[in-house]
Amino acid sequence: MNVLILGSGGREHAFAWKIAQSKQLENLYIAPGNAGTAQCGTNVNISATDFDAIKNLVWEKGIDMVLVGPEDPLVKGIHDYFLDDEVLKDIPVIGPKKDGAQLEGSKDFSKQFMIKHGVPTARYQSFTGKTVNDGKKFLETLQPPFVLKASGLAAGKGVLIIDDLKEAQTELENMLLNSKFGEASETVVIEEFLKGIELSVFVLTDGKSYKILPAAKDYKRIGEGDTGLNTGGMGAVSPVPFADEAFIKKVEEKIVKPTIAGLRKENIDYRGFIFIGLMNDNGEPSVIEYNCRMGDPETEVVIPRISSDLLDLLQGVATQTLDTKKFEVTPETATTVVMVSGGYPEDYEKGKLVSGLEDHNGSHVFHSGTKFDGDKVLTSGGRVFAVTSFGNSISEAVGKSFKCAEKISYDKKYYRKDIGKDLINWKG
Ligand code: AMP
Ligand code: GLY
Repeated sequence: MNVLILGSGGREHAFAWKIAQSKQLENLYIAPGNAGTAQCGTNVNISATDFDAIKNLVWEKGIDMVLVGPEDPLVKGIHDYFLDDEVLKDIPVIGPKKDGAQLEGSKDFSKQFMIKHGVPTARYQSFTGKTVNDGKKFLETLQPPFVLKASGLAAGKGVLIIDDLKEAQTELENMLLNSKFGEASETVVIEEFLKGIELSVFVLTDGKSYKILPAAKDYKRIGEGDTGLNTGGMGAVSPVPFADEAFIKKVEEKIVKPTIAGLRKENIDYRGFIFIGLMNDNGEPSVIEYNCRMGDPETEVVIPRISSDLLDLLQGVATQTLDTKKFEVTPETATTVVMVSGGYPEDYEKGKLVSGLEDHNGSHVFHSGTKFDGDKVLTSGGRVFAVTSFGNSISEAVGKSFKCAEKISYDKKYYRKDIGKDLINWKG
């Protein structure tokens, strides 16, 4: 099979690395990819949202399957674009159509969906510019902290959690009336604050059956001890000690099954990954958000733990035979430590020369933001690498990741040295 992966981050490198191991693979292309994906297949310098250029590539290279990494092309309708095109309509796209991608693309839609299908989630109401005063009144009925969410895609920045009522009311005005997050905040979801500890559960579905992939916990803040600005993710751990078998069973019954059944009831033929951001409050799960794709850096621990052939599983998604496919997961612990550019998630410099990539000591160095300049590797993004290691415990695995991260050098490198620390002595 000839496979095209869309995207350029650590998630896509992890996908490429795994798919490159499949016996069913002939040629692998990644658009646009990075210096890491270039080691697994051929990078093609096309944006993941340039559908016409993707069409030409698919045609020219005889692509048999497209795996979409990020949410943007899905929310913009790449799957629909394929289905509507005479030439492309029979080439499977792994990732939902526009209707299913709304689970991530519209928080207003996803909250309505959860309530309608009985999926536990925080109580909420949605507001627009016309109803801003109702929104302010609604805030008065809630206990702090107040959670305000831009309904549309806001590059992970559209959620505000505010302790003070007046400030929350001002921010609501900024979002609805002053376009704080542009179009994304034309509708704002205000919801109850959920207590507990967060984790992510991933589901692969062909629209009929599903597989629950390993759960992961990510570390969102830039600073150690979960301080400072939010980032795309600074590290991840899988499995998650506070998500034991009984908890995952509960997630399956209360969340996964009603979600899959709800999609079917709404005639949404969903084929792809569902990323469920969850709060675990004393063993009771509720959904914080859905995403229509895999997480990054969670993919860099989830995918390496899958010992079965990923391409075979994706074939199952494409042909709606996922229930017949072998799906095995290693019990070992995987951790990933994300190395970033100094200054990230604010301004940072790119183009720094990377050295120390030769000897990984058994770790996997997934590239997130790199490019080749001749045979040199240069940094080209905020998140630069995700260093994944295995071990019999979190401390063993993360110790290996840190050792490997120490050896990789570039100007102003930074990574959190406390990934997994909160979980090492987890007693529940
Ligand atoms: P989201 O983009 O919806 O995942 O929100 C970003 C982050 O804000 C989440 O990962 C949580 O840490 C936090 N968050 C969102 N909604 C809530 C909520 N209702 N209660 C508590 N924390 C929340
Ligand atoms: N790590 C969180 C995300 O991918 O959205």
